[in-house]
Amino acid sequence: MARQKHEDPPEDAPVTTPTTIGEEPQAEASLRPLSFDEYVGQEDLKRPLRTMVQAAQQLSTSLDHLLFYGPPGLGKTSLAHIVAHEMGVTVHQTSGPAVEHKGVLAGLLTNLADHDVLFIDEIHRLPPPVEEALYPAMEDYQLDVLIGDGPHAKAITMPLPRFTLVGATTRTGMLTSPLQDRFGFTWRLTYYSDEELTRIITRSAERIGVRVTDDGAVELGRRARGTPRVANRWLRRARDYAEVDGSRIIDRRIANITLSDLQVDKAGLNSLDRAYLSCLLERFDGRPVGIEALAAALSEDRQTLEFTVEPYLVQHGFVDRTSRGRVATLLAANHLGLTTDGEPQKKLF
Ligand SMILES: Nc1ncnc2c1ncn2[C@@H]1O[C@H](COP(=O)(O)OP(=O)(O)O)[C@@H](O)[C@H]1O
Ligand SMILES: [Mg+2]
Repeated sequence: MARQKHEDPPEDAPVTTPTTIGEEPQAEASLRPLSFDEYVGQEDLKRPLRTMVQAAQQLSTSLDHLLFYGPPGLGKTSLAHIVAHEMGVTVHQTSGPAVEHKGVLAGLLTNLADHDVLFIDEIHRLPPPVEEALYPAMEDYQLDVLIGDGPHAKAITMPLPRFTLVGATTRTGMLTSPLQDRFGFTWRLTYYSDEELTRIITRSAERIGVRVTDDGAVELGRRARGTPRVANRWLRRARDYAEVDGSRIIDRRIANITLSDLQVDKAGLNSLDRAYLSCLLERFDGRPVGIEALAAALSEDRQTLEFTVEPYLVQHGFVDRTSRGRVATLLAANHLGLTTDGEPQKKLF
């Protein structure tokens, strides 16, 4: 079965060069909103952020460091680009694992201009020595470097431009508190409403030049797992179906055919979501299950379950996280046509 692994595309994009891995990241970049006005939803976040940007501009200072967290595809990278765009500065993009050692960090930091944005994706994956070097850089705009090696090595302190660090992570739990404390603004992004996703699809359709009817956009949006990246992906796949079908218009019928072929069900759950729920119900008979046991039973990475699969299922009432383990709810059982202890539901008629 085609697992929806690609839901979380490689975020280890190379430093400051355009992402060119496969079709999707490029297509995604072309749909990336570049201003607060184009960025749909997250109103509670946009208000303070807009104010911060405007104040920084009026005061001619750099913007304070920003940390965004939340499940993949909700618009963290987009925000880094928007902030830079609205500030009129350049964004330099890298990721935690790409900054392998202090030398790489020094290279990045010394390349920045005043007020530039340094965006570090997956910031929880920075090696500890790099993270420690980042503290004085964030706080005092200076970097301690060793020149030469052996007994002649000399420690010098290099002044840095006043930059803005934007960090993104799916897991704040894995961020050390000294690092968290150095951000002036931290925000957790939440899943989007069906109405917001419908709006995103309608706008994206205009951008890629495909016609979508209102009910087509609603159907794609409703089944996008609350996630703009997924919404745009469904739109591109539906465009393919509309093209091959010859109608060239994405209506409800095309949306339904597309999503059912992609094994996305009526509630927008994908095959991994369903495998997760049926594992809880059928394999473990509806008893509470620990995350490790669940990951082993599904041959799936624990992190993927915890940070990509579960947040949506929990928020939508399919799963409860209890102190004894994960439990599938009545809603989940009904959705799969099972009882809460994993038996097939008896037909009443
Ligand atoms: N608020 C939004 N409004 C419109 N499009 C969005 C929004 N958030 C995300 N997107 C779309 O979803 C894609 C993925 O967003 P991205 O910022 O890369 O998410 P993240 O970095 O959180 O994984 C973007 O390329 C953009 O097309
Ligand atoms: Mg991202």
